[in-house]
Amino acid sequence: MKFLYLLLIFVVTLQHSAGTHIRIKNNGYELVVVAIHESVKENAQMLTSLKKIITDSSKVLYSATRHRAYFRKVFFLIPSTWSSGLADKDSTSVNLRDADIIISDPSSVSRRSYPRTRSYAGCGHRGIHIQLRTDVLFNSRHPLVQGKPEKYLVHEFAKYWYGVFEEYPNPGENQFYFSTTVGRADPVRCSTGLRGRIMKKTQSGIQLCSYDSIDPDTGEFPEGCVYYPYPSHNQGTASMMDHSYIQEIKDFCDDDQTPGHFSHNVEPPNRQNRLCSHRSTWDIISNTPDFLNNANPPGSLSDSQLTPQFIVFRAPSRRRRRLAVVLDPPQEFHKRLRLHQAVDHFLTEGFDDETKVAIITNAAHRKGTRMRSRRSAAVKSSLQSIDQFYSLSTMRSRIRRGIEILKKRNSTKEGMEFHLIVISCNNQSGFETEVLQEMATTGITPHFIHCGENGIENMEKIRLQGGHAESRNQRSIFYAVQRLSDKLHDEKDVSVQISNENIELDGDTAYHSEFSLDDSLRGELTIRLHYSTSEPSVQVVAPNGSECIYKSTDRKLRYIRLTSLVSHNEQGKWSITIKNKTPNKESINVLVMLQPIISEDEVPIRTNAWVKVFHEHSPPRVGVYAEVMNGGHPVVNANVTAHVYHEDRKVAVIPLRDSGGGFDIMKNDGIYSNSFTEIESQGRHYVEVMIEDVLTNSEIHRTYELQLPTEKDTEDDQHDLHAPRLDYHTEKIPLRHRLKRSTSSGEFHVDHRWDSLSGGYDYPPARINDLTVTRVNRKDRKVSLSWTAPGSDLDNGRASSYEIRYNTNGTALVLNPKKGMLVKEDMLGDTSGKPKEAGQVETVTVQFPAKMKWVAIMLRSIDENNNAGEFSNMVTTYFVL
Ligand SMILES: *[C@@H]1O[C@H](CO)[C@@H](O)[C@H](O)[C@H]1NC(C)=O
Ligand SMILES: *[C@@H]1O[C@H](CO)[C@@H](O)[C@H](O)[C@H]1NC(C)=O
Ligand SMILES: *[C@@H]1O[C@H](CO)[C@@H](O)[C@H](O)[C@H]1NC(C)=O
Ligand SMILES: *[C@@H]1O[C@H](CO)[C@@H](O)[C@H](O)[C@H]1NC(C)=O
Ligand SMILES: *[C@@H]1O[C@H](CO)[C@@H](O)[C@H](O)[C@H]1NC(C)=O
Repeated sequence: MKFLYLLLIFVVTLQHSAGTHIRIKNNGYELVVVAIHESVKENAQMLTSLKKIITDSSKVLYSATRHRAYFRKVFFLIPSTWSSGLADKDSTSVNLRDADIIISDPSSVSRRSYPRTRSYAGCGHRGIHIQLRTDVLFNSRHPLVQGKPEKYLVHEFAKYWYGVFEEYPNPGENQFYFSTTVGRADPVRCSTGLRGRIMKKTQSGIQLCSYDSIDPDTGEFPEGCVYYPYPSHNQGTASMMDHSYIQEIKDFCDDDQTPGHFSHNVEPPNRQNRLCSHRSTWDIISNTPDFLNNANPPGSLSDSQLTPQFIVFRAPSRRRRRLAVVLDPPQEFHKRLRLHQAVDHFLTEGFDDETKVAIITNAAHRKGTRMRSRRSAAVKSSLQSIDQFYSLSTMRSRIRRGIEILKKRNSTKEGMEFHLIVISCNNQSGFETEVLQEMATTGITPHFIHCGENGIENMEKIRLQGGHAESRNQRSIFYAVQRLSDKLHDEKDVSVQISNENIELDGDTAYHSEFSLDDSLRGELTIRLHYSTSEPSVQVVAPNGSECIYKSTDRKLRYIRLTSLVSHNEQGKWSITIKNKTPNKESINVLVMLQPIISEDEVPIRTNAWVKVFHEHSPPRVGVYAEVMNGGHPVVNANVTAHVYHEDRKVAVIPLRDSGGGFDIMKNDGIYSNSFTEIESQGRHYVEVMIEDVLTNSEIHRTYELQLPTEKDTEDDQHDLHAPRLDYHTEKIPLRHRLKRSTSSGEFHVDHRWDSLSGGYDYPPARINDLTVTRVNRKDRKVSLSWTAPGSDLDNGRASSYEIRYNTNGTALVLNPKKGMLVKEDMLGDTSGKPKEAGQVETVTVQFPAKMKWVAIMLRSIDENNNAGEFSNMVTTYFVL
């Protein structure tokens, strides 16, 4: 067994618009990207071990999916610091941010994270990526691995790709629940066939906890009693989402009731049951698009056919970017000016001096255009010639010209990248298919930003070729170029956007604003003021009261640029005063950003926003998400607001929450969520996200995995060791200075599918997924319940009532909640009246009828039009044993 030393963990922010390229064809997953982070030291042996693990897990996956899926083609991305002999190719197209599986070393103390698969969209939907740590994967004693890394990998892959969840209790969740089937406490597990022992550690050694030791008052085992499954001797073969390492386990839990089969137990309150409406993992997996309607039917492949093909790419040590920027600006001068300002911003901030640029505005007149340094006079002057007459050449010929210029540089130097960037504000709205094909064969990445009304043709093709395609209104062109810039940079080089505002300043007035730089920010602060007619005066004051000194003005492109170096002393409150010295109205775009200095244990808090449309509902539902992360650690209690735009118009302002419940499937994971329901018209929508903590409430939650020693069984012989239990510790670090960020999502399109329901979009309340029992008065049979209130439309507004159902048979209640008995008004203790506003915590006490020995409970929310949400997760408790 290879032993690896503890090093640095790394950190990724994901571009959800790019993301994975995995696809399944004839049962085989292709384009699975496994990236090794640069924190991992070169280790050829490790690469070999990883290939072995993935080969083994391909077989495990094939068996677990009942011969429907395996890994056919896997790409490795190894760090640039590893020797090129280990790679088949030096990569330019594969990026760490697009990886499905990221492998890192455990970190230095401050950034240490735990391995996990992050999800946001809920049951049946894929997650963000799988993050693995070398010290877990290669540690045969780790609680999750137990010498079976190939099964652990399939367990994580199922979470990531199929949107199923753990069936064992996660740290912090209850180890036991009250089973209405057996009428007593039972360990949380998928199937009752998962055998083991309940034990407790005492000073004199390990002690068994018998069912007789259950406290009749609390229904619980004595403090410290924990369920330890046997590493073998399981009954049945499920479940991969439970303790996957157990010898006999090779399947996902299903609903097959054949005696002796040990199928899915619907009752335990584990994550799978809570988030997947108590459905079995195989039920969810077999209904994903990969397998639905008999897609990828069972095959009969041999072990050797299940061996994946591996292609190893090496990340380039430096990027040599060649950018051909083709402009098609609008007729109107002011709009054209904004576009040129945005392109100048794009080229000036962020790129290094290895980047060469050609600006193509008029192919007919500029035959001599070639690649130049991005700071060259030629580049500057083409941007500055805003008055230049454009329409002499067609867009088609300009795009041609761009391709020719890129192709002229036929260099195979390491890290060479070719990008054709088209920014069009006119009718030209995409690349022709042949042009895209030509770029694919010549290694040019196409990008298209459209700032007109039309959408982009061939958008999916552009994205498949690794490009960025986005349709934006003119007013948010700065957001669009920022997103393109983020895509072209490695995570560590991406700038942090603090704010991005368009302001209108009346004649002879001043604008005053403040922004705060939080504790995680160090680096070069840049403020850009893009004005439209006459230069305003500007004053920027640092927290210590001194004025920002470095200031430059470009009067042709009409912007003022201020910079300042920010160290720990300059964190805190900054202020900007802008004065319009003319009698005329002035519109100004104010951009504040910071190019961070990153060290081993200091990374900035980063944000990212995205939208997911759930087409399985009619009308489709729209989830809006933003993440706020400090490296691998979530930032909680941030004040996150999403502004939804349709064309030029703001159509909704939505608070995003990380409090769990409804669209937010996981509390305090740094992913803030809500739904967008105020859909008024069809067309392109996009989201700008503001994070602004007036009260400085934000905290970084750093979670460490606690290393618990392996428990040796005192009674049994040596080889019957039990897996140590997983445990985490979370350190909460409050920010001293206010957090402020701005970010944006890509577009989403409201189309004819929203029309399927006449009479507007009356969404039902969201499903409650965090129902818990907070207190039980057994004598009086009073049960206090708590959950997060959904709204009248999904997670917005206020519902009008709740329907609480109960049954003594939990299984029967889950199978048919409407057949359960209804909690009537007179059973509610403290009549709480109307449901609370969405996102708030509800608590209700219910008194259950006499003679009930125990109870299972579910509920749903109903809006003013009698639209009912889906039933919640189920909880159980007992009154007498
Ligand atoms: C580019 O170089 C490769 C070899 O390095 C060559 O095969 C190819 O024909 C060249 N392409 C052009 C357009 O010059
Ligand atoms: C764009 O197309 C529309 C009709 O398709 C036409 O009326 C309009 O003049 C065109 N605009 C430009 C700038 O070519
Ligand atoms: C205030 O901070 C600036 C840098 O932002 C620094 O140059 C200056 O010396 C500081 N002034 C005082 C009085 O500390
Ligand atoms: C939350 O952010 C909004 C702006 O995005 C701001 O108006 C509001 O004051 C903030 N609230 C708190 C409590 O920080
Ligand atoms: C509970 O309900 C399920 C499903 O209806 C049924 O199969 C089971 O026998 C019931 N259990 C008891 C104890 O009645």
